[in-house]
Amino acid sequence: MPLVNAKEMLTKAKKGHYAVGQFNINNLEWTKAILLTAQECNSPVILGVSEGAGKYMCGYKTVVGMVNGMLEELKITVPVALHLDHGSYEGVKACVAAGFSSVMFDGSHYPIEENIAKTKELVALANEKGLSIEAEVGAIGGEEDGVIGQGECADPQECKMIADLGVTMLAAGIGNIHGKYPENWAGLSFETLDAVQQLTGEMPLVLHGGTGIPEDMIKKAISLGVSKINVNTECQLAFAAATREYIEAGKDKSGKGFDPRKLLAPGFEAIKATVKEKMELFGSVNKA
Ligand code: 13P
Repeated sequence: MPLVNAKEMLTKAKKGHYAVGQFNINNLEWTKAILLTAQECNSPVILGVSEGAGKYMCGYKTVVGMVNGMLEELKITVPVALHLDHGSYEGVKACVAAGFSSVMFDGSHYPIEENIAKTKELVALANEKGLSIEAEVGAIGGEEDGVIGQGECADPQECKMIADLGVTMLAAGIGNIHGKYPENWAGLSFETLDAVQQLTGEMPLVLHGGTGIPEDMIKKAISLGVSKINVNTECQLAFAAATREYIEAGKDKSGKGFDPRKLLAPGFEAIKATVKEKMELFGSVNKA
C-alpha cells in the first residue's frame, strides 16, 4: 500500500482508545525492522524522521525513495505514514515537496502568536497537498538534534488556539522529555493532559519522549486522549546493546561475522522486538 497520511489511523485510534506508535528511523535497517514488525503485528505505523536523521540519510528525497521502495518490495499492506519529526518552517516545506505523507511543525519555541501564524500557514499547505500535520505547544524537554527543551507543561488555552487552526494532531508538553528520564523526574502531568483534552475534544494528542515512560503512565495517557506515541531512544539503546553483545562475544572475528549483514542482524532483531513490545503496549496490534 502506498504511504498514507496519518489522519484516518489517528482518528480511529482516538475513538478506539489505543495509540499508534511513531518510531524514528535512522537508516535502512531501522526502516525495514519497523515496517516488517508493523506488518507482522497488523498494526498501523508512523515512521518519524528528524531533520538531523533526514540529513544523515542523504536528504528527504532519499528517505522517500527508500521507504516507497520498501513498501512495495516488502509487500507492506498496513497503513504507513512518513512523518517529519520536529520540523522547522523550512523543513516542513522541503518534506512536502519531497513526498512525505505527514509533517510536524514544531513552533513551540516561538512566542504563541508566531507559532499560530506559522502553523496556520503550514496547515493550509498540508491541506492543499493532502498531508496530515502535527503542531506543538509547550516544548518537550531533553535534547534532540542539539535543541534542548525544558519539559514544560503546555497552557491548555494555547493548545485550543493551535488545535482550532485545523491541525491533524497536537503535541502538548506534559512534563515529558526526549531521551532517558532522570532519576528525579516528576512524571507526566495528567492534570495538564486532562485539561488539554477537555478543551480540544476529538483532536488526537501526541506524547513525545515515549522512551522509559512506565507502562501505567502510558496507559493512563492513552485513556486521556493520547493517540500517537513517539519512540526513538529506546530503539537506539536496544540496537546498541545487541551490537555490543555481538562484538564483545567476538562474533565479528569468527568466519564471515564481519559481514555487515551478519554484524547488524542482532541490532535489527532488537529493534523489531522493541517495536513489537511497544505496539502491544499501545494497543495498536491488529488495528491496521
Ligand atoms: P524518545 O527518544 O525519548 O523516545 O523520544 C522520541 C520522540 O519524542 C521523537 O519526537
